[in-house]
Amino acid sequence: MEQDIERVLISAEELEEKVAAVGAQIAKDFEGKDPIFVGVLKGCFIFMADLMRHVNIRCSVDFMAVSSYSGTTSTGAVKINKDLSQDIADRHIILVEDILDSGVTLNYLKKYLTVRKPASIHVVTLMDKPARRKADIYADYSCFEVPDAFVVGYGLDYNETYRNLPYIGILKPEIYTK
Ligand code: IMP
Ligand code: MG
Repeated sequence: MEQDIERVLISAEELEEKVAAVGAQIAKDFEGKDPIFVGVLKGCFIFMADLMRHVNIRCSVDFMAVSSYSGTTSTGAVKINKDLSQDIADRHIILVEDILDSGVTLNYLKKYLTVRKPASIHVVTLMDKPARRKADIYADYSCFEVPDAFVVGYGLDYNETYRNLPYIGILKPEIYTK
């Protein structure tokens, strides 16, 4: 598994430090608002687990599962595989994403949830790849801006592998071109 990684882009130590800082900032901004953190599965699972431990305010957690990708290229289509398990009317929503790439997924999700009349929708992403943005969307909180390379680890996969790496690595191009 590790032999498929070209280089480490973000180390475990850097992840720990930045995620803690962003979690603390969100806690400050949403104190008294009882927000619902909505994780976008599966890529968010490690980031969200670490983030939430630094959000020391009253809040709740829910998940959605969407699919938009097969391999390294977007199919452009977004499918909801798991929806929320609670009503979000008049609630503050914080979407938790692994990476904001073309923005197509998040743009779709924001519109999909807006119909339910939440009090607000904010976005926190572990990584932002602004070079590839197609939809007019931005993250309210972004931990790392990354270059246009395919990254894996800390929850992110390539065809369901590498999610368990404790750091963010750049995959060797020969892995996804073979
Ligand atoms: P978007 O709709 O193009 O913004 O795609 C967002 C989703 O694509 C992310 O939530 C990831 O699941 C996946 N994705 C985009 N870039 C990468 C990458 O470099 N590595 C792994 N997954 C990625
Ligand atoms: Mg994702």
